[in-house]
Amino acid sequence: MGTRPLLNRRLDGLGTTIFAEMSALATATGSINLGQGFPDTDGPRGIAEAAARAVLEGRGNQYPPGPGIPELRTAIAEHQQRFRGLAYDPDTEVLVTAGATEAIAAALLALLEPGDEVIALEPFYDSYAACIAMAGAVRVPLTLRAPDFRPDLDRLRALVTPRTRLLLLNSPHNPTGLVLSPDELAAIAALAVERDLLVVTDEVYEHLVFAGAHHPIAALPGMRERTVSISSAGKTFSFTGWKVGWVTAPAPLVAAVRTAKQYLTYVSAGPFQYAVAEALRLPDAYFEDFRADLRRKRDLLADGLAAAGFRVFNPEGTYFITTDITPLGEKDGVEFCRALPERCGVVAIPNAVFYDDPEAGRPLVRFTFCKKDEVLQEAVTRLQRL
Ligand SMILES: Cc1ncc(COP(=O)(O)O)c(C=O)c1O
Repeated sequence: MGTRPLLNRRLDGLGTTIFAEMSALATATGSINLGQGFPDTDGPRGIAEAAARAVLEGRGNQYPPGPGIPELRTAIAEHQQRFRGLAYDPDTEVLVTAGATEAIAAALLALLEPGDEVIALEPFYDSYAACIAMAGAVRVPLTLRAPDFRPDLDRLRALVTPRTRLLLLNSPHNPTGLVLSPDELAAIAALAVERDLLVVTDEVYEHLVFAGAHHPIAALPGMRERTVSISSAGKTFSFTGWKVGWVTAPAPLVAAVRTAKQYLTYVSAGPFQYAVAEALRLPDAYFEDFRADLRRKRDLLADGLAAAGFRVFNPEGTYFITTDITPLGEKDGVEFCRALPERCGVVAIPNAVFYDDPEAGRPLVRFTFCKKDEVLQEAVTRLQRL
């Protein structure tokens, strides 16, 4: 095989994620894992039963239709109308994917040419960098900075070049908890229209907004025709292992994304699609209780982290809290997170891994609060040892 590296050079540097290392550390040290963002309590029993029923009744056990089962596509369109006031045709403007992850991959592979520039909010959710790289495109970070992580809109304007093809948004934003405001969205939308850019927006935390509301950029003037909106059932219904996600966009964009998607997984999660169709139609009370519960957990963990000496940046959305470890006399989040399991039996993620320029996120550390109250309480008690 000679000396040529086995890994395609586009994926150079994307080898192992910190999540694997930290989760292994959590297991080895018996630590509480507040690193990876998955709930330790499953979603509604009735929805789990709907999935079990679908399996036993033989619905979805064989390849479902490529774009997703009609029941789910209709439920997704109804959900977009009910919560966001957006109308999409379930037959031509909705696509079911293997989680938001596949939707992001398919959208970027479908819409980008090698050399195209993609402006994305940095710190990035880790799959963005990988998918932009797989498409042969170039990522251009718009860095969000502490303490409030608001995007610098003048800087954004300055980053747009003739090669810019796409803005990759994420609101509510992982890991900072930023929720783009109506004014920020309006400014970003106006720029996208003026410079004729596509927008791919990852809204998987759309139901986890604690201050204000989630506003979809697709609803703004001139945006519907250029926006691919992505969401998923994992976070909203606490079934992250089911990997049911979706895209809503005008028919030509959906057709493009579907072209890439059909050669990634083709289809997935047949029986779970029936269950998610039911979940999307749950009454408002489900969504309100879910948000209230997570808000309470956020406050529990935020107070505990502050009491332990961290500087806490209270998130407006998502189920992550970003902290600054400088007040603890620490400088380097990676070193801090590597030592934390030994020091006090808790695992967290250094935000530096979400930056192209690790210096920008060096003292920042992320904790998730989508865990049982007693787990969060125990974590908080352990963190006081710092
Ligand atoms: C911002 C963001 N996008 C996408 C995903 C993945 O979503 P899914 O599990 O539906 O693929 C996550 C999961 O952590 C996320 O935080």
